[in-house]
Amino acid sequence: MDAELSLVTANLAHAAPGKLIYDPFAGTGSFLITSSHFGATTFGSDIDGRALRGKKDRSLLLNFHQYKLVSKFGDTFVSDLTNTPLREVPGVNKRVFDAIVCDPPYGVREGLKVLGSKRPEREKGPIMMNGSWRHT
Ligand SMILES: C[S@@+](CC[C@H](N)C(=O)[O-])C[C@H]1O[C@@H](n2cnc3c(N)ncnc32)[C@H](O)[C@@H]1O
Repeated sequence: MDAELSLVTANLAHAAPGKLIYDPFAGTGSFLITSSHFGATTFGSDIDGRALRGKKDRSLLLNFHQYKLVSKFGDTFVSDLTNTPLREVPGVNKRVFDAIVCDPPYGVREGLKVLGSKRPEREKGPIMMNGSWRHT
């Protein structure tokens, strides 16, 4: 993501101190960095954990260190947005994030990826071991 465009977008989202901002297609974290630059605490997720984790000498978290913004780094997690683990909790104030800032996969340069089999008939069923389900 172009740095200037990323800054403009974070500014349009009113990124500021006290705000919580989430990017569900975080990739290498450009929106997280620019939103934190304006003082927001940022959270991100991506289907591709490699982008979030990076490498030993180059990673999303190291970018926060480089720009001295670590105190504004909330967290990141791996997630397919089409089946996001973020849920409404009944009875709890629904408004957690102040803004969602993202650059979705439009399908031009990069397409949407979805977790799961392209052949659902080949998906494995639940596994039982010693009389109990493996996932419980
Ligand atoms: C255009 S890139 C975003 C780049 C990001 N702004 C950056 O600074 O690196 C789109 C991102 O969407 C992710 N993506 C694709 N399908 C997804 C899905 N179903 N759920 C979550 N992320 C997905 C890709 O892994 C990719 O990192």
